[in-house]
Amino acid sequence: MSDNQFDPQAFEDMEYSLTPYQEDFVRENLMSDEFLDFVETNTKPIDLLFAYYRCAIMEVETKFKVLDEELSTELERNPIESIKSRVKSVDSLLRKMRRKNIPLNLAAIEENINDIAGVRVICSFPNDIYDLAESLLAQDDITLISRKDYIKDPKPSGYRSLHLIVEVPIFLKNEKRNMKVEVQFRTIAMDFWASLEHKLHYKHDLPPEKAKVLADELRDCAEQIDLLDMRMQKVKDEIDTYNEENPKEPPFPGFPLLT
Ligand code: GTP
Ligand code: MG
Repeated sequence: MSDNQFDPQAFEDMEYSLTPYQEDFVRENLMSDEFLDFVETNTKPIDLLFAYYRCAIMEVETKFKVLDEELSTELERNPIESIKSRVKSVDSLLRKMRRKNIPLNLAAIEENINDIAGVRVICSFPNDIYDLAESLLAQDDITLISRKDYIKDPKPSGYRSLHLIVEVPIFLKNEKRNMKVEVQFRTIAMDFWASLEHKLHYKHDLPPEKAKVLADELRDCAEQIDLLDMRMQKVKDEIDTYNEENPKEPPFPGFPLLT
């Protein structure tokens, strides 16, 4: 049976099906007229806010695609390996609001939560990160809200990445709206470490001694990965220097279109 076919028996057998008490609670509270009316009147503004964040992601992604296109065409450089974007899930948003005690209204969400829209730019070499960040920030419709350089100052876990919170305008039918976007810049190597380390965090039941040994091991891996990044950057710099000092002869001298 394929994954997306509904199997009523499996649904019945689910370990986490509701107890009679839970079922009563859901019927009386979450399915009450008052609550359903509340959902109806409140979901539209939330859906709209999330749509604005998706638009902001499109704007920022396009800016990076334009930069990558320019550099790959003009300079034969492809500084961006890939771009991964996401809008924060509603449950993770609610958890953050609970954790940071954010008032339950949309204005407070927009004001206080900076990472609802997230764009992760995976670069080839460490210096590409700073070049791209600079190019983004030089654009006159981008406002820098905050900058955290975890490459110069890695987190205690070993995490490395450059984080910018920026504001970017989106143009709607009748208004222009500035939206916040979190941009994370990483090299492929930094992303490799962060992705695997993130997966390992789901194991929470380790005894403290063991957890410390493994955290030390992960930090050591991050340091080795950083050394690799620096070695690759050095190789690239040496190739660039050689190419600058030994420019290629144009194939057809005097023919400007082909030079
Ligand atoms: P959050 O409330 O988690 O967003 O923290 P914050 O607002 O202080 O932001 P921070 O600068 O800590 O960066 C948050 C994001 O960076 C996380 O959502 C992760 O994507 C990433 N991040 C930060 N620290 C780590 C880490 O130790 N490991 C991994 N894998 N990712 C990290
Ligand atoms: Mg976050």
